[in-house]
Amino acid sequence: MCGIVGYVGNRDAVPLLIDGLKRLEYRGYDSAGIAVHSDAHLHTRKCVGRLRALEDNLATNALRGRPGIGHTRWATHGEPSEKNSHPHLDGSARIAAVHNGIIENYQELRDELQAAGHTFLSDTDTEVIPHLVEQELAAGAEHFEDALLRALRRTRGAYALGMLFQDEPDTIYAARLGSPLIVGLGDNEYFIASDVPAILNHIRQVIYLNDGEIAILKPDGVVVKNLEGETVQPALKTVDIAPEAAERAGFETFMLKEIHEQPRVLRTLLERHATKQNRVELPEAGVNGDYFKQLRRVMMVSCGTAYHAAMYGKFLLEHMTNLAVETDLGSEFRYRSPRLEQDTLFVAVSQSGETADTLASLRLAREKNCRVLSICNVPGSSMVRDSDAVLYTEAGPEIGVASTKAYTAQLMAFALLSLHIARVREEITEEQERERIASLAGIPDAIHYMLERADHIRAIADKHHDGPSALYLGRRFNYPTALEGALKNKEISYQHAEGYAAGEMKHGPIALINEYMPVVCICTKTDDEVYEKMISNMKEVEARHGRIIAIATDGDRHAASIAEDIIYVPETREEYSPLINVVALQLLAYYAAQARGTDIDKPRNLAKSVTVE
Ligand code: G6P
Repeated sequence: MCGIVGYVGNRDAVPLLIDGLKRLEYRGYDSAGIAVHSDAHLHTRKCVGRLRALEDNLATNALRGRPGIGHTRWATHGEPSEKNSHPHLDGSARIAAVHNGIIENYQELRDELQAAGHTFLSDTDTEVIPHLVEQELAAGAEHFEDALLRALRRTRGAYALGMLFQDEPDTIYAARLGSPLIVGLGDNEYFIASDVPAILNHIRQVIYLNDGEIAILKPDGVVVKNLEGETVQPALKTVDIAPEAAERAGFETFMLKEIHEQPRVLRTLLERHATKQNRVELPEAGVNGDYFKQLRRVMMVSCGTAYHAAMYGKFLLEHMTNLAVETDLGSEFRYRSPRLEQDTLFVAVSQSGETADTLASLRLAREKNCRVLSICNVPGSSMVRDSDAVLYTEAGPEIGVASTKAYTAQLMAFALLSLHIARVREEITEEQERERIASLAGIPDAIHYMLERADHIRAIADKHHDGPSALYLGRRFNYPTALEGALKNKEISYQHAEGYAAGEMKHGPIALINEYMPVVCICTKTDDEVYEKMISNMKEVEARHGRIIAIATDGDRHAASIAEDIIYVPETREEYSPLINVVALQLLAYYAAQARGTDIDKPRNLAKSVTVE
């Protein structure tokens, strides 16, 4: 989704804006642009496509200036084109704006402005903003800030905004309602950005703007106000992410780096929450033992990969407690009539904490007086701020669009949460808790082992990547793993892939199976009946000459005798096997994408942080 960056200070803004936009590339975009103050005027540059096009433009037609604002656009209103790229200007070209979000009443505002003589150059909703401010200035607003506040009060929808005004050559105006925006504080210089990694190298502290706040940034300081124009005291947070966390660190892509970070991320999460007494404590979660004791119902909402993590969380909580647990997609949940009562714990699962549909669902739950717990990766994000309690996944910045380490961290968070709740409710014994923690402690090494088998997985991907489609099958705890494996594959390799509950195969997908169809079967061995059922499903595929790629427990000769290819994984408890199995599927998708020559970190049309519905 759209990315915003802005700079006020004594340095030339242009390289800082380009660098910031590059760091926001992962959010997904189709065009980009900047505006800077120079020679007492506003100058803009825009290009369709990758940032390289904007850099080429600047190389042939140099531009220097400060302050400045920049934007990567993910098209909603109007196709990706130069005229629709941000920054957008008012009629007099004295006001420039970059925007993330959607102004829902833009048509009505545009009609009104056009009737008053304003001419629009783009198809975007954003363009009404500079024109509205221009109109308010002409209508007698005292100054730019006053005009901006009046204009914002007339809009409906969501915005993160960065604005320049030609007559105030030392100022950036920023505003936030419903879309993420932060203010970064450096040494006598200030930034705005959609997220911290974009400006990490330059700042020490950050202000997470609240909804309904504007910020006025000058080289000598920042003032934050509400929409009534009253000054508010912002909370300053120290940035504790190491700059290297947002670098590729020698890996060919961020995704590969993030796949390799998983053992460390999971170890850290486990060490933070499992005490020396082998007990899971979740002090930061802020929902206490008494609350979990009387709890009856849990409703989990999420999107994309986080939805698969929530499915896993549901299976695990149901397995370990007698709670009634439901999951839904954010985009569905908010438009049905869910039974939400005060005794329901609402759990939002999200890497970014900004996904519009999950956030709207969370707010719906709040209106119904549910307690809200977020399982989230980004401190200061909207979901974190709107929750009663937070369980951080602490995976560090995830830059690759396709989620990997954030997913396994979400699975680990659910493993810890379910142990904690089960013990508090006395549904497992201390001994059982100890056993499970010991089992979880083995997961990081097991993932290391998978990473060492990368060449073998690459060879399998090379063999199967060119078919039109692939099927992924799993059961029980590994049903979400199958969904996630298929999602990874289609996201980055663009090979059509479908994840299915293995038992459902005979109700449809079996019709697709022939000698060309790769079928990834997750059949890690356990002592329960799921393994046997999975083997039967594989026999059904084999009988139809499907090309089975089995994810099986080390040494499983039976699975090997049915499969064309086999990826062995270390043995663990069935309920924790998805944490290991999914790594094999991440690598399989990764190497398929590499063989197909796609842009792995920035797959076409996808966005990392989906801030529109
Ligand atoms: C986008 C991303 C996915 C992510 C989903 C939900 O589609 O590309 O990787 O799983 O949004 O995002 P969230 O930040 O809420 O986990």
